[in-house]
Amino acid sequence: MGTPSPELVRVADKAAMAQAAADLLLTRIAANSGRIAICLTGGSSPKQLYELLATQSYRDRIPWPRVHWFIGDERFVPPGDPLHNMTMARHAFLDACAPADNIHAIPTETDSPESSANAYARELMAFYGADALDPARPLFDLVLLGIGPDGHVASLFPGYPAVDVRDRWVVGVDKAHVAPFVPRVSLTLPVLASCRTMLFEVGGTDKRPILARVLAGEDLPANRARSNETTTFLIDDSAWPEQSGKLPHALIVMGVSSSGKSTVGEALGRRLGWRFEDGDSFHPPANVAKMSAGQPLTDEDRWPWLQAIADEVARCRAKGEPIIIACSALKKTYRKILVGDPRDVRLIYLEGDRELIGDRMGHRKGHFMPPGLLDSQFATLEPPGADEHPVTVSVDEPVESIVDDILKQLAIGQDRA
Ligand code: 6PG
Repeated sequence: MGTPSPELVRVADKAAMAQAAADLLLTRIAANSGRIAICLTGGSSPKQLYELLATQSYRDRIPWPRVHWFIGDERFVPPGDPLHNMTMARHAFLDACAPADNIHAIPTETDSPESSANAYARELMAFYGADALDPARPLFDLVLLGIGPDGHVASLFPGYPAVDVRDRWVVGVDKAHVAPFVPRVSLTLPVLASCRTMLFEVGGTDKRPILARVLAGEDLPANRARSNETTTFLIDDSAWPEQSGKLPHALIVMGVSSSGKSTVGEALGRRLGWRFEDGDSFHPPANVAKMSAGQPLTDEDRWPWLQAIADEVARCRAKGEPIIIACSALKKTYRKILVGDPRDVRLIYLEGDRELIGDRMGHRKGHFMPPGLLDSQFATLEPPGADEHPVTVSVDEPVESIVDDILKQLAIGQDRA
């Protein structure tokens, strides 16, 4: 795909998702002092967001005369029909808030979905002021999308030729792949990609099976739709495709020194929207002094350090804040302190051999662990066993691929009895 992987943001429920989406919309609006273009979506997922935008606190913060509203796809039914996407958005907020000239519906009272598509393409091009998209000047500030049960986005259904269309802005789709079985009109992937932010809203248990397939990287339209800039998936708890229904609330990124714990932990934190802490910062000063002097730590040295990390995990649990902590956690006895309840705290084990990690360590500056300690780290290391249910990833990959692998394993991993 060549574009960065999407950021996954987990929220409690659909109400929290609508609020997070509304806040992101306001952020995008605030970033543009000129004319703003938002591409809405149909389906049921965005309805709560739309209704929220009409409430006083959001309504007052939107500069309505400057904001133009488009739609990513339309069912080929007349305006006013209960299936008509823009009608739903109009009723939920646009009619009450937006100037009529700023509402750009796909015309459906034409002789065919193709004629509708051509008319809307002309309208989009006129708005943009060109008939070719310039990557430096996105068409939309924000594109909203939902995911259909078959992995479709807008009305681009899996296996349909419309998914591969790159030389048109809008296409007619004669037959839908899922209900409602009415013809559709849809923006194409390159046009949807021309945005600052693409925002998916995925909520409800019925989305869990398809989301598992999407997060597993299956070739579906939902995995081909990516902004040229930033793509964010808002996912609520009930849609998260882990069998236990919940992600653990703490992730311990473990492995020997220089295995990349902080780099991977930080990248994972950015993708999940979770706070990251480096376990090293929980060492008492005496331990840091010992390590700087090249002396390996004893177990006696390590207990207070491990307990401090476990206390931080407990504090976050009590506040309902998820956290990622990098910590070598070399021995099983150490991990027993860190991981009380294995459903709650999950180990992410960064695996690499002595040669590879030694080579990395040789290139590392500004860290208190001298390379000579690596042998003692490997000697101490007890790789986590299957009974500890670790997510094991190889460190011999680019950081973003490691993160993809972790998310994939967390999302579709085995339930922990
Ligand atoms: C449509 C859509 C479509 C929708 C997904 C998700 O016109 O149906 O725009 O792409 O976003 O099917 O629909 P739900 O939000 O209803 O699950």
